[in-house]
Amino acid sequence: MDFDKCENIKVEKEDGITFLSINRPEKRNAMSPAVHQEMFDALAYLEADDETEVLVIAGVGESWSAGQDLREFFREYENRPPVDTKRYMETNEGWRQHRLSMYDKPTIAMVNGYCIGGAFTQLCSCDFAIASDDATFSLSEINWGILPGGVVTWTIANTLNPRDAMYYCCTGEAFDGKKAEAMGLINKSVPADQLKAEVVKLANEMRKKNPEVLRATKQAVRRVRGMDYFQALDYLAAKMSEIRMRDKEDSFHQGLTQFLDEKSYRPSFEPFKRPAAE
Ligand code: ACO
Repeated sequence: MDFDKCENIKVEKEDGITFLSINRPEKRNAMSPAVHQEMFDALAYLEADDETEVLVIAGVGESWSAGQDLREFFREYENRPPVDTKRYMETNEGWRQHRLSMYDKPTIAMVNGYCIGGAFTQLCSCDFAIASDDATFSLSEINWGILPGGVVTWTIANTLNPRDAMYYCCTGEAFDGKKAEAMGLINKSVPADQLKAEVVKLANEMRKKNPEVLRATKQAVRRVRGMDYFQALDYLAAKMSEIRMRDKEDSFHQGLTQFLDEKSYRPSFEPFKRPAAE
């Protein structure tokens, strides 16, 4: 994929970490149909890209994303033929929910500035989220006549405690990074000038893990939520077999050997030494 030709997104690669940003700073990175299409294509491409070990979803300029573009997403699509709307819904939900939430690689939301409405979908679909203290979060839908649609209400109800979910969906009250951290909406809030360093630190932690074990683990954490006990037992056993099948480093035996025989590490505090990383 030729990212230089993309007008609405920006891709930057740094030592195994790929920063994929919405690039409409003049519109506070509101998501237009063109943004959705480019993000849809980029995510598919980067999932199979060997240089991308960890994916960071970012925003160019002073905003992460001001949500759906109220003009291009809502007003201009109101009177389009249903087939256009249907196609558009597929790309828009496709990258933010279907693909991102089960991405093969670890994903981090690096939230600077505004994170509004529909942007909560990709926020919660990322495996991790780190924001700057001065970020502004708002479920603004209530303030202009809709409910948090797509899957935002579902996402929020699954992420926040019931009191906070109800309060912020019904008031639309804005809150900052520290509050988002306290509610468990994000992992961490840091001063703005430390945001990127904190994200890179976490990304590098992820890069030390075996990618197949990490992939199975993060997908399992997401999937087991809706399962009952027996479904989860079966699913996790199957996922465990999947790791054995896909993991070319044989992490399981490597880990046992390095701990039990070589006594070279303690799993409680660090990952085993990956042969591929040497
Ligand atoms: N859709 C379309 N355009 C937007 C959006 C948006 N979501 N957000 C900002 N813009 C545009 C503004 O219209 C303006 O365009 P213009 O320069 O052509 O007039 C430009 O971005 C800058 O916006 P300002 O309001 O001037 O910037 P400011 O920094 O003062 O405020 C803020 C930013 C708080 C994000 C404000 O623009 C806002 O409230 N936007 C709406 C956010 C929103 O409610 N999003 C929808 C969520 S619901 C959903 O996603 C389903």
